[in-house]
Amino acid sequence: MRYLLETKGLTKRFGRGERAQTAVLDVSLHVPEGAVYGLLGPNGAGKSTMLKMVTGMLQPSGGEMLFEGEPWRREHLYRIGSLVETPPLYPNLTARENLRVRTTLLGIPEERIGEVLETVDLTNTGRKRAGQFSLGMKQRLGIALALLARPRLLVLDEPTNGLDPIGIEELRGLVRSLPGQGVTVVVSSHVLTEVAHTADLVGIIVEGRLAHEGRIDAGCDLEALFMDVCRKTAGKTADAGRASWERRAAAEGRASREKGGVR
Ligand SMILES: Nc1ncnc2c1ncn2[C@@H]1O[C@H](COP(=O)(O)OP(=O)(O)O)[C@@H](O)[C@H]1O
Ligand SMILES: [Mg+2]
Repeated sequence: MRYLLETKGLTKRFGRGERAQTAVLDVSLHVPEGAVYGLLGPNGAGKSTMLKMVTGMLQPSGGEMLFEGEPWRREHLYRIGSLVETPPLYPNLTARENLRVRTTLLGIPEERIGEVLETVDLTNTGRKRAGQFSLGMKQRLGIALALLARPRLLVLDEPTNGLDPIGIEELRGLVRSLPGQGVTVVVSSHVLTEVAHTADLVGIIVEGRLAHEGRIDAGCDLEALFMDVCRKTAGKTADAGRASWERRAAAEGRASREKGGVR
């Protein structure tokens, strides 16, 4: 099988000496071309750290990253779009103007602006400035920016954080539509339902380690899988970490049930 993105034993440590902390340890992900890949895990599991390495915002401490089968190079970032943390928008510019700043900068033809606005469903915002957009609209404009250069991979870090149910639904539809346009997506979330509805396969990260990776089917009980994976992984590590993992996993499960549960 051909992977668009692959990591081999990827590791990231922060700090030195006594204060050293391993945020990501020995993670090997396999993201097939044309997939929506959900990176799942409790808060603090290492999802953002993983995605920041893939998007060149952090340098790995160890391991390898392969993009299109080649060792990751900074030039690959031309083909990797990302929305990690808040979208880089100019609040006093319209959607179209925000996009024009980037097309001008990167020498991308103007026609592309209309195309990406269409993709993210923001064609009718007219003179409205980005500062006045809802959070969901801002996120979608952030994705439009990331799509301008026609990336092959789009990396989204918890894109639905803080969105209302309609915003979440719109974003979900958008993410699902991207593989049809030749864009592979890696999307992280700590909310199980999110990933259950959008992803073709998931990687579950618990305390910096990849605890599970595999396809999810329509009938898959992701919550049960998640809890199981968290427990098993906890069992393999020092007892000190165990209670906190279980507590966190249980809290995640509860939060997801309160949001409507995993179907
Ligand atoms: N720049 C940093 N310096 C030190 N520790 C960090 C830094 N970024 C993240 N961490 C730590 O790495 C761990 C994983 O964080 P993160 O990747 O943000 O988790 P997630 O995105 O899954 O919530 C956490 O314990 C966090 O405190
Ligand atoms: Mg994060």
